Amino acid sequence: MSHKAILITGAAGYIGSHVLLQLQSRGEQVLAIDNLHTGFRQAVLSAPLIVGDVGDRELLTGVFREHGIDTVMHFAASTIVPESVHDPLKYYGNNTCATRNLLDSCMRAGVRQLVFSSSAAVYGNPAGGICDEELALAPVNPYGSSKLVSEWMLRDQAASSDFRYVSLRYFNVAGSDLQGRIGQSTRAATLLIKVACEAIVGKRPHVAIFGTDYDTPDGTGVRDYVHVEDVARAHVDALDYLRRGGAAAVFNCGYSHGYSVREVLESVQRIAGSTLVVREEPRRAGDPPTLIARAERIRSQLGWTPQLDNLDTIVDSALRWERKLQREPW
Ligand code: UD1
Repeated sequence: MSHKAILITGAAGYIGSHVLLQLQSRGEQVLAIDNLHTGFRQAVLSAPLIVGDVGDRELLTGVFREHGIDTVMHFAASTIVPESVHDPLKYYGNNTCATRNLLDSCMRAGVRQLVFSSSAAVYGNPAGGICDEELALAPVNPYGSSKLVSEWMLRDQAASSDFRYVSLRYFNVAGSDLQGRIGQSTRAATLLIKVACEAIVGKRPHVAIFGTDYDTPDGTGVRDYVHVEDVARAHVDALDYLRRGGAAAVFNCGYSHGYSVREVLESVQRIAGSTLVVREEPRRAGDPPTLIARAERIRSQLGWTPQLDNLDTIVDSALRWERKLQREPW
């Protein structure tokens, strides 16, 4: 059976561009949209790209009408947690309000399937650090709140119509396309693996450990790092699930085990074969000690089977991309 086209918002960004490649490689018809504020035109490779805002209802209604789209994958968002603390309205605007407008455009145009990029940030600081989808949601920063309110909108819209969605709550997405075509190119990055790789290639003088006194095995924060290619695979699985008629659902997307900041930095140094300048600094505001996914649901209901669950594999791909960026800056 032939399917209609998929609109990928934020397709020039880190995760969107990896999903776009996987969808294209299995022959899906895709259309990219990105305002290129933080994304990179090069990341879209050969897909058709519309430059514009997902919150622009007039634009989106026209796009839906012209391109025969029946599914949206919605990645476009602002994603820097510390920035969200200083500029919350930017996050509610770019994430929550834009999602509301996008959803409104979908409803008007008869688009009834959407895959949403949510985040482990919706859990906040859960006791024990293990996040089950049924846990009470209590984000501790505006980024997490902006994603949670978007999830609520999707839930309520699905309850009141024939609209169906899958919300994927990503844990710590890292790494790059194994073929080295695209990767994480974010400017002013704050994410640990990206920052450590930048330090290895000399883009930064050092890397900081934010907090060494957490109640974790080595005192540093523990996170569930998940390879961006496996995250992309979860989107393909979510698409198939919606096409099978699957009901609206929320899934964690993580490997169900974590690594500490020190373990990550050791991996980076091992893979690079060189030493980082590491500075121990105070805790960063809003950082929970441990965040690890419970992820039985995504495996059983979507059939998600991760293939790159290995920290060194993640770091190796991230570092290869960072070195490529050094040679050929985007
Ligand atoms: C945050 C969000 C997550 C979101 C991600 C990307 C929370 C709780 N988590 O992840 O949902 O998907 O951003 O937007 O809001 N660290 C250092 N030195 C550094 C950088 C980080 O020690 O230079 C430590 C942090 O304290 C933390 C770990 O490394 O323990 C991971 O941090 P980071 O990579 O920034 O991601 P999160 O904050 O976990």
